Amino acid sequence: MNYSIALIPGDGIGPEVIKPATEVLDAVGGAWGHVFNYVELEAGGCAIDSTGEPLPQKTLEAARQCDALLLGAVGGPQWENLPGHLRPERALLGLRAGLGVFANLRPAKLLPQLRSACPLKDDVLVSSNCEGKPEFDLLIVRELTGGLYFGERGRSADGKAAFDTERYSWDEIERVLRTGYEAAAIRRKKLCVVDKANVLESSRFWREVAAVVSKEYPDIETSFLYVDNAAMQLVRAPGQFDVIATSNLFGDILSDEASVLTGSIGMLPSASLGGERDPAAKNGCPVGMYEPIHGSAPDIAGKNIANPLGTILSAAMMLRYSFGLEKEARAVEDAVSAALDAGLRTLDIAGRGRVAANETIVGAKEMGEAVIKLLEK
Ligand code: IPM
Ligand code: MG
Repeated sequence: MNYSIALIPGDGIGPEVIKPATEVLDAVGGAWGHVFNYVELEAGGCAIDSTGEPLPQKTLEAARQCDALLLGAVGGPQWENLPGHLRPERALLGLRAGLGVFANLRPAKLLPQLRSACPLKDDVLVSSNCEGKPEFDLLIVRELTGGLYFGERGRSADGKAAFDTERYSWDEIERVLRTGYEAAAIRRKKLCVVDKANVLESSRFWREVAAVVSKEYPDIETSFLYVDNAAMQLVRAPGQFDVIATSNLFGDILSDEASVLTGSIGMLPSASLGGERDPAAKNGCPVGMYEPIHGSAPDIAGKNIANPLGTILSAAMMLRYSFGLEKEARAVEDAVSAALDAGLRTLDIAGRGRVAANETIVGAKEMGEAVIKLLEK
């Protein structure tokens, strides 16, 4: 089968992590007989430099024609002082809204090979793990196209005050909760809604919607936590969580926190789903946007020291969710695991700052090559 992939390498380390990911995809294509055609597009800082806008209309239009989108990272210090609507990050928000990808899946799992890169003590991990192992495996389902990120904002006439608005409709909450429930159904069947219902009206509304939607998923245990408590529970007992469903802002914050527990933010992939497929396109698979959750890391850009695994794992999520290629997705995830088993580490995942005897530090390029070599059909 042929698949078209919109590719947005973006800024900073973006191109360095995208390249190994596309090489892994091509290796998958070679082994399983798929063809991935890339349509390279500009968004973020590089698009500001070449066109004056972070998300040129033609990037969005071209992305909509593709079967899925793989993005590296956007942003950098040279664009930091631009007004809000011209910052590189606007490209991300424009793509998310423009593709209608309202549900952002951010899995955070502690791989046993990276135990030493996780800052938590054994007893903290073990106490909340149902099998008594120093492990956790959770999934944050973050609402991605509403809330504070997209609410009304502005300044007062005298310039002495500013505001942003958290606003959610019933439908926006319901559809993302459903994504959460469906994910929980094929995991450990627990869904925790994270909000701030002791203070915010919009959070109380989330709970009302959850009370209704949860009735349709009687096999799934629904619970609720205030976000401050959830932030604490994540570092106190991460093993208690299966799926966390939450708003755009809370999901942004909690996913960065969870990433550190997996060893490095460089490990975490994400999938943004829910968009309507352009009916003119061939394969009929839902459009999805895939990106590592890390940023453009300008301080390490161009040095071949970035971790490409978050992007490679994002490509695996693309195989699974956009193309329905479960075996191929698993093979990529297994190859990543095998590369870690072999002791290969980018700098960020070397055991807590010290390189252990059985670890070899490699660059983004070499890590990608190792994953390809270890890919098994
Ligand atoms: C993320 C990022 C973005 C967000 C930024 C870069 C706009 O932090 O994807 O988590 O806040 O959504
Ligand atoms: Mg973030």
